[in-house]
Amino acid sequence: MATNSTSDSSRPSQRLLGKVALVTGGATGIGESIVRLFHDHGAKVCVVDVQDNLGRHLCEALGGDQITCFVHCDVTSEDDVRRAVDFAVDKFGTLDIVVNNAGIAGAPCPDIRDVNLLEFEKIFAVNVKGVFLGMKHAARIMIPSRIRGSIISICSVASAIGGLGPHAYTGSKHAVSGLTKSVAGELGKYGIRVNCVSPYAVATSLAVAHMPEEERTEDAMAGFRDFAARKANLQGVELTADDVANAVLFLATEESRYISGANLMVDGGFTCTNHSLRVFR
Ligand SMILES: NC(=O)c1ccc[n+]([C@@H]2O[C@H](COP(=O)([O-])OP(=O)(O)OC[C@H]3O[C@@H](n4cnc5c(N)ncnc54)[C@H](O)[C@@H]3O)[C@@H](O)[C@H]2O)c1
Repeated sequence: MATNSTSDSSRPSQRLLGKVALVTGGATGIGESIVRLFHDHGAKVCVVDVQDNLGRHLCEALGGDQITCFVHCDVTSEDDVRRAVDFAVDKFGTLDIVVNNAGIAGAPCPDIRDVNLLEFEKIFAVNVKGVFLGMKHAARIMIPSRIRGSIISICSVASAIGGLGPHAYTGSKHAVSGLTKSVAGELGKYGIRVNCVSPYAVATSLAVAHMPEEERTEDAMAGFRDFAARKANLQGVELTADDVANAVLFLATEESRYISGANLMVDGGFTCTNHSLRVFR
């Protein structure tokens, strides 16, 4: 899905030169795009994921050991997150940017009476506890080292309105937006910025993850793209993982040096309007 695959070190502006970043869920989808873009901009990147083969392959494709590394880490486990953060710091000497991107959506469930509580808890474990652990362990490194770092979490349009996904997903993304504000409030005194980014629909494996494997076809993905395009506010452009990565890059660099506690919507205006009354359509 990612298209930011160039690793041209002769780019005129490497906006993350000398920086060290850790990206959770970085093996594929939006996370992979963030990893590739950060790498293009000169950062050393620690890729954290539960998909070891994809994560290792990505790091090798980007030039291997000196500039990237993969760590197996389930973000729901504090031991795993602690180990991944420590590994990145031991390997690259510091930690300037943490991107909490790992997330799951869960299967659609149109009737609350049928919601499986284990599934509900799993979504909160990955999307909320995982994000919180990323924030906590970023702060553990950044505060004593006086790193004026940037912590960025991938949230969703489901952080702003209901009805875009299962209850647990919507609740979890509202929680990510709330955690972002809360932690930004604490870490401001250390010069650490905390923000989140809320994309509209992107055609990644998350979009079809609830389907049986044999139904996750190109046609299913094309159907998702078509649906998302029809429901979008901004017409004539398809949101890609690279668009989200560009927003994350902005929040990772000094260009956003006074932005903290924000939820940056990357949604083409989807959550600021409601076309059901057909005033403009
Ligand atoms: N795709 C969309 O339409 C969309 C829209 C809004 C927000 N988002 C958010 O963007 C983020 C990335 O989603 P995506 O679309 O790239 O999905 P994806 O499924 O393509 O990628 C998610 C990655 O997270 C990893 N992951 C899942 N559980 C993990 C865990 N417990 N520990 C470590 N890694 C784990 C997966 O292995 C995968 O590599 C998520 O937080 C998602 O909620 C996606």
